[in-house]
Amino acid sequence: MKVILLGTAAGGGFPQWNCACALCQAAQSGLLMSRTQECVAVSGNSRDWWLLNASPDIRTQLLATADLHPGPGPRDTPVRGVLLTDAELDHTLGLTILRGASDLTLYAAAPVLDALTTSLPLHGLLDRYEPWSWQLSTRPGGFDLTGGLRVSTHPISAKAPKYVTAASTDAHWVTALRIEDQNTGGTLIYAPCLADWPPGFDELLATATHAIVDGTFFSARELGAAVVSTNSDAGQSRMGHLPVDGPTGTLVALARHPSLRRIYTHLNNTNPLLDPASTPSTLIARAGIEVMPDGAEFTV
Ligand code: MLT
Ligand code: MN
Ligand code: ZN
Repeated sequence: MKVILLGTAAGGGFPQWNCACALCQAAQSGLLMSRTQECVAVSGNSRDWWLLNASPDIRTQLLATADLHPGPGPRDTPVRGVLLTDAELDHTLGLTILRGASDLTLYAAAPVLDALTTSLPLHGLLDRYEPWSWQLSTRPGGFDLTGGLRVSTHPISAKAPKYVTAASTDAHWVTALRIEDQNTGGTLIYAPCLADWPPGFDELLATATHAIVDGTFFSARELGAAVVSTNSDAGQSRMGHLPVDGPTGTLVALARHPSLRRIYTHLNNTNPLLDPASTPSTLIARAGIEVMPDGAEFTV
């Protein structure tokens, strides 16, 4: 399976348009690499491509990626559909950019499909441009994608998007995807939104060769510190992203899986991992965990 990291930043991208923090200024001036909002493309045969989430930057990302260019017919595209892990705006607004594409299939969990029908009614709206096939991703036994990929979903958290009023607090809003190449056995776990380290997640990682994991925040207080918030709940706990650092962070947890290729993504503009010369970047490199640039490709 070919995997391309189309975008690697959290919502807002890097730099973020309304942020003048030191990191965003460094990206504005070209000292640090800019990043578009988080999105991945996978293919089992290099012909049929599936998007994992659809970022608002999807147009730029598709144009920057030769494998995803249109053809051979004037309106042909190798993009077959989209698999959503959640209903967050930075993972769903790209669907509006894809409007009018024919024969797309979209997979999502029930609360996400529901949100895209009610609170953020993209389902009906987009179907008026070109009807797509909207499918439940959480079906028992998983499902197959053209190109030889087999997918199963795993519940991660009940973290609902801010725009959903009266969201059910016990629903599985966020899922991880397990994508297995049926020909090679290579298996990718994709979990860009971890509110905590969920039960069974170690066992899930043990079935894989590669993992793309939530690296939004390096430390728990990072967001509060960057925006000088008076909100005592600012930062990762409010945002629903487990930090990398600390005794309950993802770095300690991922250290239990040394033979897995581990990649952090969805980096917030406050995250020192955006600077390859930072001490946190050295720390995760020593642990064998990677941060990759937009456009990075690897084979699973
Ligand atoms: C998230 O990842 O928690 C959301 O994308 C936050 C947001 O809406 O910006
Ligand atoms: Mn996000
Ligand atoms: Zn910033």
